[in-house]
Amino acid sequence: MELDGRIAVITGAASGIGLALTERFLSEGMVVVMADIEQPVLERESARIADAGGRVLPVVCDVSDPDQVTGLRDAAVAAHGAVHLLCNNAGVANGQVNHRTKPATWQWVVGVNVLGVAYGVSAFVPLMLEQGEGHVVNTASEAGLTSSPVLGPYHATKYAVVGLSESLALELEGTGVGVSCLCPELVATRIFESSRNAPEALGFPPPPAVPIEQMAEFMGTVAMDPADLAADVAYAVRARRFWILTHQSTLGRVHDRNRRLEQGRNPKFGHGA
Ligand SMILES: NC(=O)c1ccc[n+]([C@@H]2O[C@H](COP(=O)([O-])OP(=O)(O)OC[C@H]3O[C@@H](n4cnc5c(N)ncnc54)[C@H](O)[C@@H]3O)[C@@H](O)[C@H]2O)c1
Repeated sequence: MELDGRIAVITGAASGIGLALTERFLSEGMVVVMADIEQPVLERESARIADAGGRVLPVVCDVSDPDQVTGLRDAAVAAHGAVHLLCNNAGVANGQVNHRTKPATWQWVVGVNVLGVAYGVSAFVPLMLEQGEGHVVNTASEAGLTSSPVLGPYHATKYAVVGLSESLALELEGTGVGVSCLCPELVATRIFESSRNAPEALGFPPPPAVPIEQMAEFMGTVAMDPADLAADVAYAVRARRFWILTHQSTLGRVHDRNRRLEQGRNPKFGHGA
């Protein structure tokens, strides 16, 4: 897909992967509508980018609210007349195991990670179909392809994003609207501080599973640079590739999982099937 001069909408654009996608697509000549729930950071980052000459429009938006997502689409169309690329990227992680996760936590994580993507699809895909062209990138995760004994709700929601994305791609085949599913392994972002965006009224956040300082150090050493990931995403959008995987090791784990599935064997965590 041609990117130069086109309009992108990116959710979760104030931090981490969304911010790197914003900067990458700007460098490809796109205009970017930056959507995020964290207003002060969104204002700071969009002002920094605009000062450097980037054409951005910041829109405060909670993706778990369908009205705010249609409002985001309307703001993008009012400002630029079209939307060619939607990155449904906003997401949150929670360190709880399934059986210790409270209903309110489930509602928050499912609301952002699954419904946020679904509402983005409902709001923007009809517009892209009318235009006769467009592309949707849904940020899932490696955690949507293989499971671990932690992050239960995160796995559940990311598997849902993979399923939604696959069925969407099948539905949109031949329409001129493409779909990609982004499944990164660890990327150096603020994902382990997600509770900063949890709704206060619901009594969040639960304490993080590991100390933030320790996780920040870990992320800084082994995690991928979000700018490298953003380059992979730009390539995939251009080439209309569905799967965007960042690490070869993901395929090894998927292979092990599928082999156990085919053989009717129970799930196992770690290497080797
Ligand atoms: N960092 C990783 O290792 C990793 C790996 C795989 C997938 N992901 C996924 O990447 C996506 C981006 O996360 P990140 O790692 O950049 O984390 P991050 O915390 O740095 O950025 C997430 C952004 O989403 C925003 N956000 C949170 N709730 C929102 C809501 N309700 N509405 C709108 N915006 C909201 C936050 O304010 C933040 O700016 C998420 O979907 C995450 O699950 C991250």
